[in-house]
Amino acid sequence: MAGLLVWALGQGRTAYTGAATSLLSAPKGANLGSLTPGTRVAVLKEQAGFSQVQLQGWSPQGGATALFEAKGQRVLLASFTGQVQRRVRGQGKDEGGTVWEQVEVVGWVAKSALIADVNTLWKQAGVLYQQRCSTCHALPETGKFTANQWPPIMRGMGPRSGLTAEQTQLLTRYAQAHAKR
Ligand code: HEC
Repeated sequence: MAGLLVWALGQGRTAYTGAATSLLSAPKGANLGSLTPGTRVAVLKEQAGFSQVQLQGWSPQGGATALFEAKGQRVLLASFTGQVQRRVRGQGKDEGGTVWEQVEVVGWVAKSALIADVNTLWKQAGVLYQQRCSTCHALPETGKFTANQWPPIMRGMGPRSGLTAEQTQLLTRYAQAHAKR
């Protein structure tokens, strides 16, 4: 039962990634993957400029390298390239019958990568969205499309707007956070 406290739900201060952020195995440790901008984490502890964070989400069964916000909903929170510290909390099926696992992941990020209020990030992203997405057509209302419709739209429109991969990822998360529910 050692370590149970670390995994307790709702523990730790809430923070958000202010940009795409590397997930590390330890302070200055191996790179295990990347968190997308605006991903909510619980800060468990801090050490030498690094924060140990816990994040929660859903992965399709057999697809442990991607973590999404909800089952059946393709809001990408993180993608993993290394062996992360991961726990399966539960299971569920989406509307299409795919089995998803609810998982918790613990790792380390640079403390400077975290912000307290996600709305500061969405404000910046909103400015970029307005600048880049209204040059060829009227600015599309983010609420006209669902969270699952936005990734393919941004994959098509990001390069046409001269956005970097990272900016495209930011605007994808922005549009999904303000999508049709
Ligand atoms: C260089 C011109 C250009 C820019 C910049 C541009 N778009 Fe478009 N967009 C188009 C064109 C042309 C279409 C018509 C459909 C097509 O050709 O794919 C379109 C269609 C769309 C649609 C409708 C798709 C549908 O399925 O109804 C959405 C939504 C959209 N764009 C979003 C965006 C967003 C978000 C951005 C900013 C990241 C953006 N566009 C930037 C040219 C552009």
